[in-house]
Amino acid sequence: MEKKVSIRVVVTGGAGYIGSHVCKLLVKRGFDVLVIDNLSTSSGRNCRYGHLIKLDLAEEEKVLAVLKEFAPQIIMHFAAFIVVPESVERPLMYYYNNVGNTLKLLSAMKKAGIEKFIFSSSAAVYGIPTEIPVSESAELRPISPYGESKAMVEKILRDMALAGEIRYVSLRYFNVAGADPEGEIGPLYNQPTHLILRALKTAKGEFPYLEIFGTDYPTPDGTCIRDYIHVMDLAEAHLLAMEYLLDGGESTILNCGYGRGYSVREVVEVAKRVTGIDFEVRETGRRPGDPPVLIARTDKIRSLLDFRPRYDDLYAIIRHAWLWENKI
Ligand code: UFG
Repeated sequence: MEKKVSIRVVVTGGAGYIGSHVCKLLVKRGFDVLVIDNLSTSSGRNCRYGHLIKLDLAEEEKVLAVLKEFAPQIIMHFAAFIVVPESVERPLMYYYNNVGNTLKLLSAMKKAGIEKFIFSSSAAVYGIPTEIPVSESAELRPISPYGESKAMVEKILRDMALAGEIRYVSLRYFNVAGADPEGEIGPLYNQPTHLILRALKTAKGEFPYLEIFGTDYPTPDGTCIRDYIHVMDLAEAHLLAMEYLLDGGESTILNCGYGRGYSVREVVEVAKRVTGIDFEVRETGRRPGDPPVLIARTDKIRSLLDFRPRYDDLYAIIRHAWLWENKI
C-alpha cells in the first residue's frame, strides 16, 4: 500500500492489543493517527504509534469535539470489552460499553460528518456454527452477551448504511494471537484466558500448569479446533479494509482467519517446541460455551481485499508471542 500522508484516522481502543498493532502499521505507512482510549483495560504502554487522547466514548460531547477538530476521513473502532465469560456474568456492563458507547460514537461521527467506519466484530457472532468453515452469510446465533453485543452493533451499522449515513467494513475476528514480529508491542494481560498466552505464561512459570478444557469433542484428537490468525496479518486486513472504503467500496462484512484450524493439543505441542519447556498439562472437563470447531471461510476477504497473509504459520505466531513474553 502506498503512503497516504494526508489521510487522518481515528482509532478507538488504539492502546489495546489489536488496536496498537494496527496503529503501528498505520503510522509506518504514513497515516496520521489519533487514538481515543480510556485506558480502562490497557496501560498505554503499547501506544507507541499515533497521538493518544485519554477519553471515554461515553463522553459523547468531548468525542464530538475531538472528531470535529481532527476531522478524520475514517474511524476504526476497537474499544470494547472482550472477555466472554465476564460478559455472561456482567451482561449490562458489556451492553453499555460495547453497544451503548458505540451508539454514542456513531452519533458523534454522524454529527461530525464522518462516514467511513471499520468495526471490530468477532466470530462470536456465529455462536456454534452448523457449517464449517463458516461463511459470512451464516445465521447469527451468538451464545454470549459479548457475541450478542457485536451482532447488535452489526445490525445498527447495517441500518445506518441502508439509510446512506455510513459506509463500513465489519471484520469478524477469529482467534487472534501472536505479537509484533519486531518485538515492540504485544499482548499485555496478567490473567489471560486465551490458550496461546496461557500456555506461554505457563512455560514462563507464571501458572503451575495448563488446563486442556475438554478431550471428548467430535474432533480427531478430541480437543477443540480454532482458526488462529497472527495479529499482524489481522492489522494488515484493517489497512486493506480502510483502502477499500477510501476507494469507494460498498459496506461489507468479512471473516478474518486463515481458513484452517489447529486443535488445542496441537497448539500445546507447538508451544512446548517453541519454548523448549515441557510444562505441565492437565486434562479437565469442557469449558461452557466452547464450539467444537471454529474455522473461517476466507474466500470473501481474499477476493475483495486481495488479502494475502504473511504469517499463516502456527510456529511463527507462537514464536513472536514468545519473543514478546520474554521482553515483558
Ligand atoms: N483452552 C484450553 N485451556 C486454556 C485456554 C483455552 O484448553 O487454558 C481451549 C478452549 O477451551 C478453546 C481453545 O482453547 O477450546 C481456544 O480458547 P481461547 O480462549 O484461546 O479462545 P476462544 O476460542 O474461546 O475465543 C475466541 C475469541 C473470542 C470469541 C470466541 C468465540 O478470542 O473473542 O472465540 O467462540 F468470542
